[in-house]
Amino acid sequence: MIDIRSENPAQHAVAIEALYDRTFGPGHFAKTAERLREGSQSLPQCNRVALHEGEVVGACRIWPVEIGDSPVRSVFVGPLAVDQDYRGQGLGHDLVHKALEACREQSWQLALIVGSPVYFRPLGFQPVLAGQIRLPGPQDPDRILMQLLDAKIDSPSGLARRPPSRRQAF
Ligand SMILES: CC(C)(COP(=O)(O)OP(=O)(O)OC[C@H]1O[C@@H](n2cnc3c(N)ncnc32)[C@H](O)[C@@H]1OP(=O)(O)O)[C@@H](O)C(=O)NCCC(=O)NCCS
Repeated sequence: MIDIRSENPAQHAVAIEALYDRTFGPGHFAKTAERLREGSQSLPQCNRVALHEGEVVGACRIWPVEIGDSPVRSVFVGPLAVDQDYRGQGLGHDLVHKALEACREQSWQLALIVGSPVYFRPLGFQPVLAGQIRLPGPQDPDRILMQLLDAKIDSPSGLARRPPSRRQAF
């Protein structure tokens, strides 16, 4: 029985990082997508982990991002990884689906992802229009996908970037 739940960083973070390391290897940190994550913090209440007998066997993290100067509350989805031995059972789709459900509950309005359109289209992602959303580095435009989580908003445009880190107010 596999249980999908929100990330408890104290319990799951080390195992999630280990899963990402075995899945993506060291090149992972060189990717453009990483520029949206480095120095930022994911949202544990939206992140989802898959547990089998208490062990992390899958994970999907969610990060706040800003797009251009738009006020639309946007998140960046990923990395998504499922342990080799647990693939092909629908876990990857379940993790993303449940993470997006949590994002909607938390009033996030748009989800952005870099990934395979074939894999992510059934989850409601569509390719962004050419040049509409840019990433902070080289990226195959066909793999930049988005999904509106709130039907009332207009799609933003501009450069996606991590939010500025919060500074101490003096
Ligand atoms: C991609 C990954 C998360 C898929 O996990 P999974 O649990 O095996 O996926 P699911 O079982 O939910 O697959 C759902 C559907 O997608 C299909 N699918 C699986 N991997 C796919 C891929 N790499 N490309 C396209 N389709 C894929 C499945 O056949 C299935 O189709 P179906 O619903 O018609 O049967 C997993 O293979 C993985 O961790 N890969 C390495 C990391 C990676 O590439 N992450 C994604 C980019 S962030």
